[in-house]
Order: sequence, then C-alpha cells, then structure tokens
Amino acid sequence: MKVVLLGTAAGGGCPQWNCACPVCTSGAPARCQDGVAVSANGCDWYLVNASPDVRTQILATPELAAGPGPRQTPVRGVLLTDAELDHTLGLMMLREGGGLRVWASRTVLGALDEGFPVRRILGGYSGWEWSELTAGRARDIGGLRVTAFAVGDKRPKYARASAAEGPWVVAYRFDDPATGGAFVYAPCLAGWPDGFDAFTAGAGYVLLDGTFHTAREFGGATGAAGTTAPQAAMGHLPVAGEGGSLEHVRRLRTTRPDTRWAYTHLNNTNPMADPDSKEHLEVCEAGAEIPADGTRLEL
Ligand code: MLT
Ligand code: MN
Ligand code: ZN
Repeated sequence: MKVVLLGTAAGGGCPQWNCACPVCTSGAPARCQDGVAVSANGCDWYLVNASPDVRTQILATPELAAGPGPRQTPVRGVLLTDAELDHTLGLMMLREGGGLRVWASRTVLGALDEGFPVRRILGGYSGWEWSELTAGRARDIGGLRVTAFAVGDKRPKYARASAAEGPWVVAYRFDDPATGGAFVYAPCLAGWPDGFDAFTAGAGYVLLDGTFHTAREFGGATGAAGTTAPQAAMGHLPVAGEGGSLEHVRRLRTTRPDTRWAYTHLNNTNPMADPDSKEHLEVCEAGAEIPADGTRLEL
C-alpha cells in the first residue's frame, strides 16, 4: 500500500490567514489542512478527508495527476473521518469529477445532508455515490481492507444542535492483504479510547491527532482564553502532559518496535509545527514523528 500525507495541519492550515501567533509568524514550512491519499496498486487512489486545500494538494502530488485520458483521474473516492468543515469542504472543490464514491458513518452522511447540505448541493453537479461505513465492520475498498473505529461524538459547530446519534468521528485502519502492511489514520481523538491499543496493533504507521501540544495552548497562544469554547471541549487529546497521547506512544513503543507513530492535524498554535522548536525535538526524541506535507509511505 502506498500512502501520501497531503496535509498535516488542523482547520485553518498553518499559517492561518488571520493569525499572528508565534507559530504562524515563525517562518516554519507551511502545512495544508489535514488529509491523506491511499492506494493498494499505485494507480487507483482514495482520499481520506477532503480539505479545502484539496485542489492544491492534488496538483502538488504527481500520483494524483489527471490522465491518461483527457478527463480521467486516478482519484476513485473519498472516505471521511468526520463531518468537520476542514475535512469536507474539499468535496465542493471536487465537483467537476463524476462517479466518485464517498464513504462515511451514517451520522456524518446525515450531517452532509442537513447542517452542511453538500450532498444536495453536489447533486446538481456530479453523479456521486454516498455509502455508509459501519464502525467495526471491515470493507474491501480498492483492494484494501478498511475498518472504521468510533473515536468520539464531537459535533461540528454547524451541527451543535443535532440530536443524531454517533459515531460523529471515526479513525480508519487500512490493511493490505498483499503485503501484510497496515496504516492507521486517527486525526481526531478526543481521548485514547478503549480498544484503540488493539485497533493499532501490528500497524506499520499510526498517524495520530496532533492538534494541540498541551492542554491550555489554544487560549494562551491566541489571547482567546475565556472568550471561546474551552480547548478541552474541542475534542482533541493533547500530545504532551499527563494522559496525553505521547504517554501512550511511549507505553506501546516498548512492545511494538515495528510501529512508527506520527502526528498530523497540527493546529497553528502548536509549537510542534515548527521543526526548530524545542517541543518538536522533544516529541521526536520520545519516539514519535512529525511529518511534513508530501511525506510518502509504503506499507
Ligand atoms: C476540529 O478539528 O476541531 C474542527 O475541524 C475545528 C474547525 O472547525 O476547524
Ligand atoms: Mn479539524
Ligand atoms: Zn497561529
């Protein structure tokens, strides 16, 4: 299986257009909004999440270049981890393509028909199929065995009043039966859920939620403390500190030498986004990676 990390920043990207926080003004390499592309054969590709940067990401990725026919594309479909705008606005940018299939949980498909009615809007442009993926039930997609794992019920702001039951957020595991390789993509983790150890067992690469380095970074970096929703309500387990995801990486690394752990969906306030920061260095020394956009994997 081949994997391309198309974008590694949280909603807004890094730098964010209206932000002059220390990271946004650090001169660190820019990061597009989070998403990956996966392929079993190197010819047929599936996007996981469609960020508003998806057009730029596709044009920057030779594997996803249009052709060989005048209106052909190797992009076959899109899987969604959630219904957040940073993961779904890109569907609008793909409206020129017909015949794509989009997979998501029933709850996410519902949100994309109501609060953010992208399915109805796109219905006037493209003949797309919308398919439900049930968490825990593996499906064959493009030669890969794909399993969704429910990781949280944080709703997008536009769907705050929705009474729909979850899962609102899932992680995906891709198993390649030809190579035995496995890739886990979990850009939004409200916590370290029960069963997540087992879900990641045997994976060669696990891409985790790296939105925040610490539990109080958001208000501190933006001067927004007390004026916005508390960071803890934003549904992203911090990396560092007690109970942070890095503790779990440290714990599991000792018994899983063949697993690489990495962070994506970095918020622009997260000092880890700057490769010259001490936080970046510390996380790498603890045994996790902080890949740049365009990183490629073979599993
Ligand atoms: C999130 O990951 O919490 C959301 O995407 C935030 C946003 O609306 O950008
Ligand atoms: Mn997000
Ligand atoms: Zn910023």
